[in-house]
Amino acid sequence: MPIKRNGQFITIQQHIVEAQRKYRPGSSGEFSWLLSAITLATKIIASHVRRAGLVDVWGEQGTTNVQGETVQKLDLLANEALKNALGYRDSVGIIASEEDNEPRVLQEVDEAHGRYIVMFDPLDGSSNIDVNVSVGTIFTVFRNPPEVASTEESVLQPGAEQVAAGYVVYGSSAILVYTTGHGVHMFTLDPDYGAYLLTRENIRMPEHAPHYSCNEAYYHTFPSAYQRYLAWAKSEGEFSSRYIGSLVADFHRILLKGGVFLYPPTEKQPDGKLRLMYEANPIAFIAEQAGGAASDGSRRVLTVEPNTVHDRTPLIIGTQRNVNEVLHFIQKR
Ligand code: AHG
Ligand code: MN
Ligand code: MN
Repeated sequence: MPIKRNGQFITIQQHIVEAQRKYRPGSSGEFSWLLSAITLATKIIASHVRRAGLVDVWGEQGTTNVQGETVQKLDLLANEALKNALGYRDSVGIIASEEDNEPRVLQEVDEAHGRYIVMFDPLDGSSNIDVNVSVGTIFTVFRNPPEVASTEESVLQPGAEQVAAGYVVYGSSAILVYTTGHGVHMFTLDPDYGAYLLTRENIRMPEHAPHYSCNEAYYHTFPSAYQRYLAWAKSEGEFSSRYIGSLVADFHRILLKGGVFLYPPTEKQPDGKLRLMYEANPIAFIAEQAGGAASDGSRRVLTVEPNTVHDRTPLIIGTQRNVNEVLHFIQKR
């Protein structure tokens, strides 16, 4: 149920403005205006996802993206929705997307313009669309440093520099989760009001839960430490496994119920499959803010220095105890 204050629902815009008053008094409001572009785009995406099967958004576009993956029609629709909405915000300097080869400069950065960089995975888990399984949108916001030599240099910042991150999971309802470094908050899209209403504030992950989430079909090509962890988890007798194949949906369950998500290096993807900058970093920021942890197997994800905007990383993310259980096997090697 939506949370009420003084008998009123709290919309996401209101929540962001209240947080800004509390943590950054005197701020210009441009940041909340920027985030409203993202929420608008996700409402458009949510409505397309809801109508999948009724309008022509199912299936493949017939092209591949920079990562060599098949592009679905809804990937492009979602990408356009985000780019259009962000294009109308003066504060957005650079955008980078999973579906675009290069980051794009929208505004040169100065005192009044272009002060933020926004990166996104417009549609996460897009191979799940045609079978009516949850998909998501992931986004992250960085400051756009002035007086930097190149766009690349501006964009390639470690996750610890994120000023905001979030995702929307288009599931049985559309749920938005975000953090600006002051806790993790959850909103549910009320389709009648067309507004995201606050449904959970200051989410904390459980201490531990006997769940792991991993594509075990690749088990034989995982490094042996991951194999030993999985063998141990099975021998414990308590663990259950859940794997949706949409990172957002798999992570959202772990945020609320606990457990660990693993995408180890594999023979096919020796650096892991997930993208550091617009998949791993945003959810790592959220996990840490909710009391959890995220590792690439040897480092805290948020400290990893990216080499390119489309870098991949192995990912172990969940409650601190669950993540430590996996790291125990890796460190013991
Ligand atoms: P995307 O649809 O944005 O390319 O992301 C798909 C990702 C992620 O959502 C999921 O966790 C993972 O791919 C699943 O990969 P496998 O099919 O190899 O398990
Ligand atoms: Mn993705
Ligand atoms: Mn995607």
